[in-house]
Amino acid sequence: MSIKAVVFDAYGTLYDIQSVAAITEEAFPGYGEIVTQIWRIKQLEYTWLRSLMRRYADFSDITRDSLAYTLRVLALKHDGGVFERIMEKYLHLDLYPDATAALAALRDRKLAILSNGSTGMLNALVRNSGLDRVLDAVISVDSKRIFKPSPDAYTLIESALGTPPAEVLFVSSNPWDACGAKAFGLNVAWIERVTPEAMVLVCAKSEMVAPLTMFKAIRTQMDELGLEPDYRIHTLSELPVLVAAHER
Ligand code: LAC
Repeated sequence: MSIKAVVFDAYGTLYDIQSVAAITEEAFPGYGEIVTQIWRIKQLEYTWLRSLMRRYADFSDITRDSLAYTLRVLALKHDGGVFERIMEKYLHLDLYPDATAALAALRDRKLAILSNGSTGMLNALVRNSGLDRVLDAVISVDSKRIFKPSPDAYTLIESALGTPPAEVLFVSSNPWDACGAKAFGLNVAWIERVTPEAMVLVCAKSEMVAPLTMFKAIRTQMDELGLEPDYRIHTLSELPVLVAAHER
């Protein structure tokens, strides 16, 4: 069966969430990196905890709560204006440099985002980056009130596009998301942006483990969940050839 739809995770896959560090460093000189890393780790943690507790709050609330946690535990005093400026950056994240060209090369297939992001956050982000001109659908888990990697979240792809899982390629850089999509029955391409070799080099070199190194060790290496993606790629630009050759 060939691939009829390519569906992307948003944060960390099409959009570089590390690009918030420009704003966090400006707001808290010397703390930009550690704020960015603790914020992302807690943001994801809260999606998993709220799903398990059946206490859904949308990703915008969770992003606020995890930022508030981060600034509190680091005792970083700030006014509301600084907080809102950092939150605003989440609606203007940088696209990865090869995202636009990769999507353009896949335009003969249905293209969509499936993200934990709230509908409001995603629509703003997609509009601000111009991807609203190339995507057939922007799918938030909001309607299911549970986050990826719950299987309920991945059912939204067929509901929105009418394409069965066997004809969908799901693309994510988040190992936990790639495993969740594989467990659900989608074809999966995992973007391995930090190779094990690069990970070893980074760890070997640093006396004190830098926040970004710790983050890379926790969030960028394939997890031990008994699941393997169908494809391991390093950039979005590898997708058009991969999709054209996929026949299962
Ligand atoms: C997304 C992030 C949370 O779902 O991976 O876009």
